[in-house]
Amino acid sequence: MEEGTKKTGVGVKYVLGVASGKGGVGKSTITVLLAQTAIGQGLKVGILDADITGPSIPRLLGAQDLKAEMEDGRILPPRTDDGIKLLSINLLLEDERTPVIWRGPLLSKAVEQFWNDTDWGELDLLLVDFPPGTSDVMLTAMRDLPLNGMIFVVTPMDFVSMIVSKSIQMAAKLGVPVLGFVENMGKGICPHCQKEFPLFASEEAEQALKRLSIPRLGSIPWSRELIVSEQVINAMVPKTVTLELEGIFRQILTLVST
Ligand SMILES: Nc1ncnc2c1ncn2[C@@H]1O[C@H](COP(=O)(O)OP(=O)(O)OP(=O)(O)O)[C@@H](O)[C@H]1O
Ligand SMILES: [Mg+2]
Repeated sequence: MEEGTKKTGVGVKYVLGVASGKGGVGKSTITVLLAQTAIGQGLKVGILDADITGPSIPRLLGAQDLKAEMEDGRILPPRTDDGIKLLSINLLLEDERTPVIWRGPLLSKAVEQFWNDTDWGELDLLLVDFPPGTSDVMLTAMRDLPLNGMIFVVTPMDFVSMIVSKSIQMAAKLGVPVLGFVENMGKGICPHCQKEFPLFASEEAEQALKRLSIPRLGSIPWSRELIVSEQVINAMVPKTVTLELEGIFRQILTLVST
């Protein structure tokens, strides 16, 4: 993670983007699960919620009551009970239900401030939860945040991987290293016999993922415990998912240190 320190120029060793291009595929869920995995390994972790119009990280962490402080014009991200440093637009709003009705340039400016005007302190890993789509914010985040690497979240469906491949190419064009993709919700686990089964036409889906031409870091099954609406991701994450996440995280660490 030494490279990152040079790139970010501050106390953050590695900035990892979690993106897709497609909405609703599990970017925020996987960002939170990876942050929790990293904390479990004793790392100092932060999450920058770059989704300004649809911020979901505070709720996923049960941290919707946290507020970010300002000091000398700098933003100070608070820490969750788990020890994750967090910045999200919702931590700067009086009421989390207030909509942010801004045009593209202002949204991009907010993301840029979440890095340039924010004191993240010492972190081993800062995860950036990307918004859906490949618009202004995605471009700003890829261009202006000192991303050391990105991972892409994809559900194994032809049209999803077509959209994801656009963002992967965008990252490549902007010179952001792409570490690989995480397949999410591609398989289910039978609640009776615990056997895994594919949720999509497997041959087609497999071909679509192959066409992404980047390494598959792992596959998170569809699990009832990960469906969150008003709820928080909690300690009920099944063992199969935890093991898969640890495997994904090990691979990320290997890729980061090579
Ligand atoms: N492996 C999983 N098993 C079951 N449900 C999941 C899984 N991954 C994500 N979900 C559910 O799918 C929905 C979308 O997930 P999430 O909000 O993480 O996606 P997203 O890509 O961040 O969406 P957006 O594009 O809106 O930011 C959520 O309700 C979440 O609980
Ligand atoms: Mg999200």
